Amino acid sequence: MSGNDRPIGVFDSGIGGLTVMHALMTRLPHESLVYFGDTARVPYGPKSPATVSRFAFENVDLLTTCDVKAVVVACNTATAHALGPLRERFELPIVGVIGPGARAAERKTASRRVGVIGTHGTVGSGAYQKALQTINGDLVVVARACPLFVPLAEEGMTDHPAARLIATDYLAPFKDDGIDTLILGCTHYPLLKAVIAATVGEGVTLIDSADETASEVAALLAERELARAAGEPAYRFLVSDLPDQFLKIGQRFLGREIGAVEVVSAGAV
Ligand code: DGL
Repeated sequence: MSGNDRPIGVFDSGIGGLTVMHALMTRLPHESLVYFGDTARVPYGPKSPATVSRFAFENVDLLTTCDVKAVVVACNTATAHALGPLRERFELPIVGVIGPGARAAERKTASRRVGVIGTHGTVGSGAYQKALQTINGDLVVVARACPLFVPLAEEGMTDHPAARLIATDYLAPFKDDGIDTLILGCTHYPLLKAVIAATVGEGVTLIDSADETASEVAALLAERELARAAGEPAYRFLVSDLPDQFLKIGQRFLGREIGAVEVVSAGAV
């Protein structure tokens, strides 16, 4: 396969990263994509930085066997713990989701007070806080973990009374923080956008980093002369466990049909 026809690799801990995959399909309609969901080892959110980093390295190793020309780390937790070390170790261009989300939030906020929600791992790492303050040292950042949003999204309970109760519990404290922008710093949270928006109120703009990440990938491919400008794309979906469940729930995340799902092993599961 010629250089620019090679696919872009995308990985997440499971199905959530399909929201990023969807943005890539829309923004880069000629690019072939290989998605790997580490469904045998999900969730990454509550695991230690060392464990998540090891998984991330194994996932990129796996994607390189598919001859990818670039990698998108679609998982916020993996980006938080491993993006820097991955870039040092691999020569491929590697894009994470935290920088793009932070830049979009910085452009949007007028009050200079930004909220971030994510997994325990992402919030505890301070990665969004660091990214935002590097862009603009005047920003005040308030971050909170919302771990139960992940299973609610997986179960399709995005409009359930339980989702509203949990959202109120997690998000009500933001009302006193004066934020006008809230970063959805987890792959699953865009599916709960409606309940999150209703809870934080109209004055708060929600930032979904998927579109911004796709734009960064487009810019990077153009800069490195790696873009594929024409032709039908090919899409592959790999998982480390439970392909049928991935197929069923994944179609909701992706917003379109998933043909076949292949089972592979990343590292010593
Ligand atoms: N993909 C993870 C993230 O974006 C959420 C799910 C998990 O905990 O693995 O942080």
